[in-house]
Amino acid sequence: MAKQILVTGGTGYIGSHTVVELQGKGFDVVVVDDLSNSQITVLDNIEKITGIRPAFEQFNLADRDKTDAFFQKYSNIEAIIHFAAFKAVGESVQKPLEYYRNNLTSLMNLLECMNKYGVKHMVFSSSCTVYGQPDVLPVTEETPRKEAESPYGNTKAICEDIMRDYCATNDKINCIALRYFNPIGAHPTALIGELPVGVPNNLVPFITQTAAGLREELSIFGDDYDTPDGTAIRDYINVVDLAEAHVVAINRMLDEKQKANYEFFNVGTGSGYSVNELVQAFIKVNKVDLKYKIVGRRHGDIEKIWADTSYGNKELGWSASRTLEETLESAWKWEKNVRGIE
Ligand code: WQD
Repeated sequence: MAKQILVTGGTGYIGSHTVVELQGKGFDVVVVDDLSNSQITVLDNIEKITGIRPAFEQFNLADRDKTDAFFQKYSNIEAIIHFAAFKAVGESVQKPLEYYRNNLTSLMNLLECMNKYGVKHMVFSSSCTVYGQPDVLPVTEETPRKEAESPYGNTKAICEDIMRDYCATNDKINCIALRYFNPIGAHPTALIGELPVGVPNNLVPFITQTAAGLREELSIFGDDYDTPDGTAIRDYINVVDLAEAHVVAINRMLDEKQKANYEFFNVGTGSGYSVNELVQAFIKVNKVDLKYKIVGRRHGDIEKIWADTSYGNKELGWSASRTLEETLESAWKWEKNVRGIE
């Protein structure tokens, strides 16, 4: 009997890619999503890729009664991968209470239901944003967390603390937090990818929409940072590499290989690229023109961050394998498919 995995936020960007990888490994996937930031048609495209349409329930996990009813209906869930959260940095500054209520309550409802219904394992979508601007680079899992740059980032740090404290007194519950660096790219079929609602906040979708003619020009936020070319540095990880890391984390728990019942891992490539390097790589690999200009820094941005991935590489037996070039190619192929560009 295939093991059943609940993927919350499974019609979202990283969630959908993780559903594809889980199904590819023989897991039976159930998706819960409130569709506040994604489309139901993502399920059609998952089915086109894997031949399997995941079971789907639409509700918000901050609703305790609906979450409880879900676990009464789906009584064979072995593990949860929890992506569902509000995630717009800027919006979180404007609407902090909505972010705290949604992101924290959803997690607490899931943890309580795990205890009540005997679901033992959870992989949690965390973020390198918990490190703030590190004093020392690259960041390891020992690097101290810093004051979050936004309410969004703070919800990730608080959720990590909730899992740590809950696992400390509930030895039947196992959690792994994966601290993502910057996920980019799309599935090689170009059937699923990043589809931000409205004007993209993130760099790569803004680049691909500019190349597709939806945006007039890319603004590069600052070239006066203390970096080789003055633009900010990030650790950009291919979304399929990231999805694969979730399957590895699930198997670590199912195979009872955890060293403790709460663990966290950096999930990056270990390499940092500047905004300018990424822009030039996109232009070169996709042979496209791209209008861009340098403007002032964006409020809240950090200067540079990239991961030391050695702990995760060793403990999880996982490392990112896809190159920046093939990742940027996949991003452009996806954008062209969405916009009907040859
Ligand atoms: C990357 C770099 C920008 C847009 C955020 C969240 C993080 C995660 C990923 C959710 C920065 C520059 C961007 C543009 C630009 N979110 N940039 N022009 O800010 O590193 O991380 O998104 O999980 O938690 O903090 O990602 O893609 O927004 O920016 O110059 O139009 O690109 O200044 O240096 P970021 P990003």
